[in-house]
Amino acid sequence: MRDEPLVLGIETSCDETGVGIVRGHTLLADALASSVDQHARFGGVVPEVASRAHLEALVPTMQRALDEAGVTLADVDAIAVTSGPGLAGALLVGVAAAKGYALAAEKPIYGVNHLAAHVAVDTLEHGPLPEPAVAMLVSGGHSSLLLVDDLTAGVTPLGATIDDAAGEAFDKVARLLGLGFPGGPIIDRSARDGDAASIHFPRGLTAPKDMVAHRFDFSFSGLKTAVARWVEARERAGEPVPVADVSASFQEAVCDVLTAKAIDACRSDGVRTLVIGGGVAANSRLRVLAEERAARHGIAVRVPRPGLCTDNGAMVAALGSHLVKAGIAPSRLDLPADSAMGLTEVSVPG
Ligand code: KG4
Ligand code: ZN
Repeated sequence: MRDEPLVLGIETSCDETGVGIVRGHTLLADALASSVDQHARFGGVVPEVASRAHLEALVPTMQRALDEAGVTLADVDAIAVTSGPGLAGALLVGVAAAKGYALAAEKPIYGVNHLAAHVAVDTLEHGPLPEPAVAMLVSGGHSSLLLVDDLTAGVTPLGATIDDAAGEAFDKVARLLGLGFPGGPIIDRSARDGDAASIHFPRGLTAPKDMVAHRFDFSFSGLKTAVARWVEARERAGEPVPVADVSASFQEAVCDVLTAKAIDACRSDGVRTLVIGGGVAANSRLRVLAEERAARHGIAVRVPRPGLCTDNGAMVAALGSHLVKAGIAPSRLDLPADSAMGLTEVSVPG
C-alpha cells in the first residue's frame, strides 16, 4: 500500500469546501465545510456568498484533512483540484489555493474535471471500475449519461438535460412546497410518508418521437411546471396540499425517467456496469429503482454511500490518484479555473 500514490484533492466548485486525501483507492481523510446554511434563505446557491465561504474555510479544512490522515503536505505525492465545471468565483478560490500549496511544497498539480471526479469516487468504495461502464451523474448543476471507456483518457457524453438539472428540479419543487433548501434530502424524507402513485406527473423526453433526437437526454422543467400547476389548482380550490403525496409522485417521475434512460444506455452499448454519482444519487428511491431495473437485465449498479455522492474533496483526490497511476502528465501552474470545462477533458493537459 505504501507504493500507492498519496494524493490530496481540493473541491470548491459549488457550496462545499472539500479536502480529501487518498492512498491509491484507500480513503484516508475527507474534510468538508459547507456554506449551505448561508444560501438557504435565497432558495439556491449564491455564487458570491459561496466564494467568500471557500476563502474562509479552505485553510482550516486543509488542516483537518491532514490531521485526520496523519500526514503532512510534504508526504503528499500530488495535489488535485477541481478546475471546472462549476461557479467561476468558487473554482478560483480552490485553484488559487492549490497552486499556492503546490508551489510551496514543490508538488505536481492536476486540474481535474468535477464530473469525472464524481465517477472516480466510486472506486474508493467498490474498487476499480469495470470499463466500459455507463455513468449517470445527477446533481444540482448537471444531469448526464456518459460512456466511460477509460476514465483517465476521457468520457463520451451520451446525453444530458436540455433544461433543469435533476437536483435543481428537487430544489425548485421543494421551494414551491415550502419545504426549504436543499430540496433533495427533504423531498426524499417527505416522500416516505406519501403515495407515489397518487398523482401522475409527466415523464420528460420519453415519448416515442423523443427517442430519435433525445433518447438519452433529460428534461425536468415541464415536470416542475406540472407540479406547480397542480399545487396552484389545489390552493385555488381552497383544499390542503398533500405534501407527502406530491413529493412521492414527483420523486417517482424523476427516478422513473433517470433509471429507464440509464438502463437503456447500458443495453444499447452492451455495458454491464452502471455507476451513479452526484448529489441526487443519494436519493433513496433512485437507488432502489435502479437496482431493481438493472437486476432484470443483468446489469450491476454501483452507487457510492450518500456522503461521497454529494460534493467532497475525496472524489477529486480519487481522480487525481487515477491520473498519477496512469502516468498522465500533471497540469502546469498556470492552469485555469474553467467554469464550462467539457467532459472530454478529464484533466488540464500539462
Ligand atoms: O453533487 P452536489 O452536492 O452538488 C452539485 O454539484 O450540484 O448535488 C447537490 C444536489 C442538490 O440539488 C440536492 O437537492 C440534491 O443534490 N440532493 C438530492 C438528495 N441529496 C442531495 N436529491 C434527491 N434526493 C436526495 N436524497
Ligand atoms: Zn457535483
